[in-house]
Amino acid sequence: MDQDALKRLCAEAALAFVEDDMMVGVGTGSTVNHFIAALAARRGRVAGTVSSSEASAARLREAGIPVMDLNATGGCDVYVDGADEVTEHLAMTKGGGGALTREKIVAQASRKFVCIADASKLVPVLGRFPLPVEVIPMARSLVAREIVRLGGRPVWREGVVTDNGNAILDVHGLVITDPAALESDLNQLPGVVTNGLFARRPADVLLLGTPQGVRRIDRAVTRPSQ
Ligand code: A5P
Repeated sequence: MDQDALKRLCAEAALAFVEDDMMVGVGTGSTVNHFIAALAARRGRVAGTVSSSEASAARLREAGIPVMDLNATGGCDVYVDGADEVTEHLAMTKGGGGALTREKIVAQASRKFVCIADASKLVPVLGRFPLPVEVIPMARSLVAREIVRLGGRPVWREGVVTDNGNAILDVHGLVITDPAALESDLNQLPGVVTNGLFARRPADVLLLGTPQGVRRIDRAVTRPSQ
């Protein structure tokens, strides 16, 4: 099975999390495109969708699936999105497609986050995939210098303007052993809109497309000590 077939496999498995009348958050990327194609069979049965990008919104509308403004909803019942890297703890790097800010907003507004990814995305430690950071354009060089101080090698994704009108820096050379801490540290830098670490709001379920079928990993819920 090639990588695209594995993406389709896990994307179709995510339909099991979509019940009638649910508000569905829809992410961005080639894996999610398979999910949108599968969701088309349920159009008319979901309450609506909230999209994390203009690209996915256009695809959803083409498929006849209603797209709503997040503000007009009470949040989403489920959010289905891909990842560029994901760990067994379901922390992720996202934003390869540049939609990280809206993805993080929809993830935060959703009761369940289902990550769909082919097996190549599962890693022991995040960092091999360059970490995207969305920045206000006037702060691009300032943020880049601060990131160098944190030990990263930022590269401007030249020519790319996000759906929010901002720039993206892809940060190379990081070994991210504490993704939640780095996520917070980067968010403190003036000019940073969002970074592509999803550790403070990780996925709840990972559906991994493997040649042996879909492997499901649930996030372990830590209970407060008694
Ligand atoms: C989009 O900005 C990203 O977060 C995507 O979810 C991620 O890049 C996965 O994309 P693919 O499904 O195309 O691998």
